[in-house]
Amino acid sequence: MAQNVFVFDHPLIQHKITLLRDKNTGTKEFRELVSEIAMLMAYEVTRDLPLKEIEVETPITTAHSKVLAGKNLAIVPILRAGLGMVDGMVKLLPNVKVGHIGLYRDPVTVEPHTYYCKLPEDINERDVIVLDPMLATGGSASAAIGYLKEKGIQNIKFMCLIASPEGIARLTKDHPDVHIYCASEDEGLNENSYIVPGLGDAGDRIFGTE
Ligand code: PRP
Ligand code: URA
Repeated sequence: MAQNVFVFDHPLIQHKITLLRDKNTGTKEFRELVSEIAMLMAYEVTRDLPLKEIEVETPITTAHSKVLAGKNLAIVPILRAGLGMVDGMVKLLPNVKVGHIGLYRDPVTVEPHTYYCKLPEDINERDVIVLDPMLATGGSASAAIGYLKEKGIQNIKFMCLIASPEGIARLTKDHPDVHIYCASEDEGLNENSYIVPGLGDAGDRIFGTE
């Protein structure tokens, strides 16, 4: 396993991933699960956020206590499916700014195509977590991260639910500085570049467009 890949083996996350994989899980439950897993992962992905000490008056005395410091964060979901992870992140990070990158994977060539981009104006002063439930060939994630780097962003993390070994290899090669966080590294890709065993088409399952 590449050094910059973190696989979340927490039992709550693993349990919820199994429910996501189940083809009988309907749209409502699927959406809720994606959001819950994103929130649980956010807890760990933000572990290295810098803190500073401030004074706060408790009802008893003055305490020296810590608050978040340093560079601000932004999250950037890759449309569509990345949108499903935004709610869960925002629950833990209520002030986080949210940029959007619209990419779709051509069903025949599996090449990513960009159709939308709207980022916070001060994005190049922020650390960024890119969100997408699926890292399959890695084309979409690599293109989105390349685009963000062109905007001057230096510290980027990539957070997904299911990753393929092929996607991890591609992203590690294209962007060796980017840490990848996932809940499972699956077996590989099928002939249509879908992740095996995976969970099917994440966007279709979140938005009920199957
Ligand atoms: C899916 C998924 C990723 C991409 C992964 O999106 O959400 O963005 O495919 O595949 P890759 O690693 O091979 O690029 P899709 O293109 O199906 O668009 P959607 O989110 O609008 O359904
Ligand atoms: N996109 C998905 O939504 N699922 C896959 O398995 C691969 C790409």
